[in-house]
Amino acid sequence: MERLEIDGPRLWRSLEELGRIGAYEDERSKIVGVNRLALTAADGEGRALVRRWFAEAGLEVRVDRIGNCYGRRKGTRDLAPVMSGSHIDSVPTAGRFDGCLGVLGALECVRSLNDRGLATERPIEIAFFTDEEGARFGTDMLGSAVAVGRLPLERALQLTDRDGLTVEGELRKIGFLGTHPERLPAPHAYVECHIEQGPILRAAGRDLGVVTGVQAISWQELTIVGKSAHAGTTPMNLRRDAGVVAARLILRLHEMATSGEYGEMRATVGAIDPVPGLVNIIPGRVRCTVDLRNPDDAQMARAETDLAAFVQTLASEYHVQIESRRTAKTPRIHFAPDVQAVIARHCDEARLSHQPIISGAGHDAQELSSLCPTAMIFVPGEYDGISHNPREYSTPEQCTNGVNLLYRTLVELARA
Ligand code: GLV
Ligand code: MN
Ligand code: MN
Repeated sequence: MERLEIDGPRLWRSLEELGRIGAYEDERSKIVGVNRLALTAADGEGRALVRRWFAEAGLEVRVDRIGNCYGRRKGTRDLAPVMSGSHIDSVPTAGRFDGCLGVLGALECVRSLNDRGLATERPIEIAFFTDEEGARFGTDMLGSAVAVGRLPLERALQLTDRDGLTVEGELRKIGFLGTHPERLPAPHAYVECHIEQGPILRAAGRDLGVVTGVQAISWQELTIVGKSAHAGTTPMNLRRDAGVVAARLILRLHEMATSGEYGEMRATVGAIDPVPGLVNIIPGRVRCTVDLRNPDDAQMARAETDLAAFVQTLASEYHVQIESRRTAKTPRIHFAPDVQAVIARHCDEARLSHQPIISGAGHDAQELSSLCPTAMIFVPGEYDGISHNPREYSTPEQCTNGVNLLYRTLVELARA
């Protein structure tokens, strides 16, 4: 049988068109980035465009009660579908590829099937999930976690952003508070194409990565409460400086992650918010986030325990209160070996070099893996694979390679 090929230029044009929604020019670098933070007007505009594209591709479209949008292409038999998808929300400083390649890639597979009038035995269902990034409401993979039943719908809808706006209200505002039941019946399989977002594939000179799983992720928000007072008049020994405590915390996390004592731990304090945040006032309160990653659940647990003990020590040493709030937590995920094998075989047949790779980032696929055999295809990125940054870039050829692989894998699984 002749090898299936997607229309690479059409995929690229779609990536560019979606990338114009929420586009902004980075003040310093002048590079154009994308800001489609979840459930903002820009996200709503992006969603409306992609939903229209789903419908124009002849898909039966539905939006569920957490705003996930699905498009189904009928199969010749009424069987569980083969699924693909990802997210189109972004961090506020994104490029055009994170998530979008997976959604528009899946759409391109459907368009290519349509072009050639090809039928599959199983339906093919494609999706974009709500707020994968977690950058606004604090919990990543929000929509897919609700779809698979890991997170209760009510809890997800009531999450708030920094201004106290709820997921429910913001979904309604952009017209994506759907009525379809949020629990997704188990698909036959799920395959997602995504950019790697890291340096490994490019450094190894590989065309693609076959993703073996996702490392564990732990997010919490810490609020350090000390006492704000005059910066000039308060003697050092009378201070309860929440800023100093935040600094100690950051340094300790850095030491932990670079010590090798917790395996391949990564640690990031990405948001630090001192109150009142003024030059001549000791910060009385600091809210900060902690992002821990580890490919080993046991090492992650140890790091969390040791961090909690360190936080207690800081509290008594500096006479501050430290409250912690869990915002997200997912274990190490292992993807299905047989789906990985299908992807690897199609790479070999297309003479594309590949290697197994674990994902450092979180993905909707990890949620779907609790429902059905799941795997992912990684596309390498330029500039050391930088991501969550406007510089994020994969070439048209790299994107086409990844989506061709997605296409062949989906079709094979949908014929089985
Ligand atoms: C999602 O982008 C993550 O934070 O891993
Ligand atoms: Mn992503
Ligand atoms: Mn991301």
